[in-house]
Amino acid sequence: MNKIIAPSLLSADFGNLKKDIEMVNKSEAHWFHLDIMDGVFVPNISFGFPIISYIKKYTKKPLDVHLMIVKPDRYLEEFKNVGADILTVHYEACNHLHRTIQKIKSLGMKAGVSLNPHTSVHVLEDIITEVDLVLLMSVNPGFGGQKFIENTYSKVTALKQIITTRKSKAVIEVDGGVDNTNALKLSKAGVDVFVAGNYIFKSKDPLKTIRELGKQVQIK
Ligand code: DX5
Ligand code: ZN
Repeated sequence: MNKIIAPSLLSADFGNLKKDIEMVNKSEAHWFHLDIMDGVFVPNISFGFPIISYIKKYTKKPLDVHLMIVKPDRYLEEFKNVGADILTVHYEACNHLHRTIQKIKSLGMKAGVSLNPHTSVHVLEDIITEVDLVLLMSVNPGFGGQKFIENTYSKVTALKQIITTRKSKAVIEVDGGVDNTNALKLSKAGVDVFVAGNYIFKSKDPLKTIRELGKQVQIK
């Protein structure tokens, strides 16, 4: 599969959101990564349905929605209605993950599951054939601009092995502290989707940063 770059809008300028949406539209990025935080699952609150609808209106790129909320089942349909294409829930927030994944797929979205840094990839062995995407958190979720956790590489390698052994089609996404010092190594370990917030939006030339990150993660 071709490698995917997904800028995380959390680091965008919310006073000037349309400008940042247009920048991503023009760029070589493949997806928009949207972080939804409830102040309970994570110690931060981000944004909700009106902002997602707004973004959907101004882009044709897929919306990759990362839910950092408790009891996500309450809102799956609403996220579909505002335009989510890929919907990712946290393993740690779901009592009945299998049911949640089936529901997301039945609504016509791709279903993802995310793991916090402390959660072993082995908890996914019995669900890996059902999911379209696994999002490995490479920082503790809640904030942009944190330092990449080095243990992520070995988690990617172990997850890749589970995916191959179980003949799953799941893609691997990494989120948190991704930049040009770790992207290629992650790519070689098996990462397909690279989320980057601060590295893109706080750079001098975000279009160029996206282009170069995209080039960097290609394995010849
Ligand atoms: C963190 C979010 C990330 C965040 C990444 O909880 O899930 O998507 O925006 O931001 P950076 O790339 O700045 O670590
Ligand atoms: Zn995220």
